[in-house]
Amino acid sequence: MSTRQPRPRRAAAHSLTNPRATNGTAAAAHGPIPSAADTYKVQPYYHDALVDIYNADSTDLSFLADQSVHLVVTSPPYNLGKDYGTARDDATYLSYLEWVETWCRELYRVLEPGGRFCLNIPLDINLSFDTGGKRTSSKQPVLADFTERLVRKLGFVYNTTILWLEGNISRRTAWGSWLSASDPWVNTAAEAVLVLSRDQRKRSAKGKTSDVDRDEFMDWTLGLWAFNGQSTSQYGHPAPFPEELPRRLIQLFSFREDVVLDPFLGSGTTCRVAKNLGRRSIGVELNPTFCEIAADRCRNAELPAGVSTD
Ligand SMILES: C[S@@+](CC[C@H](N)C(=O)[O-])C[C@H]1O[C@@H](n2cnc3c(N)ncnc32)[C@H](O)[C@@H]1O
Repeated sequence: MSTRQPRPRRAAAHSLTNPRATNGTAAAAHGPIPSAADTYKVQPYYHDALVDIYNADSTDLSFLADQSVHLVVTSPPYNLGKDYGTARDDATYLSYLEWVETWCRELYRVLEPGGRFCLNIPLDINLSFDTGGKRTSSKQPVLADFTERLVRKLGFVYNTTILWLEGNISRRTAWGSWLSASDPWVNTAAEAVLVLSRDQRKRSAKGKTSDVDRDEFMDWTLGLWAFNGQSTSQYGHPAPFPEELPRRLIQLFSFREDVVLDPFLGSGTTCRVAKNLGRRSIGVELNPTFCEIAADRCRNAELPAGVSTD
């Protein structure tokens, strides 16, 4: 990993040219989508023709314009006590849900009407923390609570819930009452992807193109996805998701010309995959070490055949 330091988040306004809009064939294919650096007047930590990464806190996305994003794909901290370096992950469950509301309000603001929000979360969790950060065993209905708050309280439109069956899940530690009906704990070996929309489900396809083929569409719209999770050792991040997850979500829920946002970018998986698919993307990550990992992965990402940013 390089020793490059992050640029300050609130830098002076500046204007960078967008290579895609001036001389790239991607511009010809997608139209002149403005660079985030041009539009939002804040220095990104990393910038290329398709990717902007910001070292920032996603509870305040004021550097992103209203209705400037078409798809959010993300996996937030689950409040399971993981060590993310700069961010704590051991709030009480209720304050965790309040924090979730703050960044979801920001996502609502930056999504355009009809824009989608794909949220990878657990169905439930087995532990909570008290106000002093002490672990307690308790089941919490995470998917139900997110759905209730985001749909009923914040006003997102419910689209669907995809179940992701992780083949290599290895979290079987909480049995409850072993071999007894006293209080057995069922640990569902799956995660959810809650799919919501802002204001309406349907988006106009006019002037836009899709890149999902027939077999993928038939398979993915069944809503039961089975593929392995990502090992934590490969990129030096404690909780990455595999590229297959954002790849399916981006191809199914966005057009090629769209802008994809991941407000909890971690090791950069969403932006790397978006670049592989020729989409513009924005990533936000609080920990500068993870920003650097993400930047490296995006720098080395390949573009799809026929798309160039020269
Ligand atoms: C579950 S991980 C995301 C992993 C990512 N999907 C990947 O494939 O690497 C959540 C990330 O959110 C970051 N994070 C926590 N709080 C944040 C905040 N307020 N704003 C931005 N990023 C934050 C953590 O540092 C962590 O990298």
